[in-house]
Amino acid sequence: MKPALLQQVVRFHGYGGADRLVTDTMACPEPAEQEVLVRIIAAGVNPIDWKLREGFKQVLLPYTPGVEAAGIITALGQAVQDFEVGQAVYGAIDHSYAELAIARPESVFLKPAHLSFAEAAAVGGGKTAWGALFEVGHLRKGQRILINGAAGVFAVQLAHLVGAHVIATASAENFATLKSLGADEVIDYKTTPFERVVRDLDVVLDAVGGQTLEASYQVLKAGGTLLALVEPPKTEKAAHFGVSALWGGTKTSSSMREVDALLQRGALRPVVRKVFSSLAQAAQAQDYSQKGGQGIGKIVLQVAAES
Ligand SMILES: NC(=O)c1ccc[n+]([C@@H]2O[C@H](COP(=O)([O-])OP(=O)(O)OC[C@H]3O[C@@H](n4cnc5c(N)ncnc54)[C@H](OP(=O)(O)O)[C@@H]3O)[C@@H](O)[C@H]2O)c1
Repeated sequence: MKPALLQQVVRFHGYGGADRLVTDTMACPEPAEQEVLVRIIAAGVNPIDWKLREGFKQVLLPYTPGVEAAGIITALGQAVQDFEVGQAVYGAIDHSYAELAIARPESVFLKPAHLSFAEAAAVGGGKTAWGALFEVGHLRKGQRILINGAAGVFAVQLAHLVGAHVIATASAENFATLKSLGADEVIDYKTTPFERVVRDLDVVLDAVGGQTLEASYQVLKAGGTLLALVEPPKTEKAAHFGVSALWGGTKTSSSMREVDALLQRGALRPVVRKVFSSLAQAAQAQDYSQKGGQGIGKIVLQVAAES
């Protein structure tokens, strides 16, 4: 019998704070017929990772966090035809706080050569932004859009690319980056309530929730569209203001293909906020994400060396 190969995996065995994350040694997974095995070089750290750890919804325990990553294909299921062992890929790879993870071939793409693995692990927000803006919101050239919580960076770039007038709320320290990515106007949410300075918008994209979502209905023009990413919007309140309020958190494989095409030709830029240098730093990385650590863009766990 072949001895099982072992790998390091970050998991939580019960819900709670970042101290619930432990590193376990486990057998390496083997890809099923329609799967690929990826050696993870870099894993994106997203708010959903610590929300699940806190028990936002029930998951099968013990649970390995991670929803996106970049790495090298190390094994292929028998039915996989589009990839080869050794190729560098990125995309939606679940349970990616690990040295190895299983992915569906339709969820991963060849890594653009001009991007590092850390950058390629920081693009999942592009899929969300594309789905919300274009598949749900049908954003068009010339429309005026407010993006609340613009630090995610892809919504600003995509809205700018389609020719919309982009107004972004963020901390002042992030203004220069947001302008370089295509924001036409920026509002410091810490000093200026946006509802005092904007009105008659075609679209609002909310990636903040709470009071920010509540104040978003009133700044739309009649017939405008509110796209919510953090909590479901209120239909009755939308009717009161004569606007549509929709859940924007749809994710389709077509949205990732569109984003991939833009990334491959350099039309979209991933922004990495901070890199944590090993799996052992998973707790610090989640803490940093949860506390809204300074800067803009994605937090990344460097699981292995880039080359
Ligand atoms: N439904 C979905 O499919 C989906 C997908 C992705 C994300 N989300 C959710 O969207 C939220 C943001 O995700 P993310 O990945 O962009 O998080 P992130 O990278 O951690 O960015 C959060 C940013 O929100 C900004 N912010 C905080 N309070 C704000 C306010 N009152 N007004 C404007 N901006 C504010 C901060 O920007 P500054 O640094 O400029 O202060 C912070 O950096 C999370 O709750 C996440 O779970 C949902």
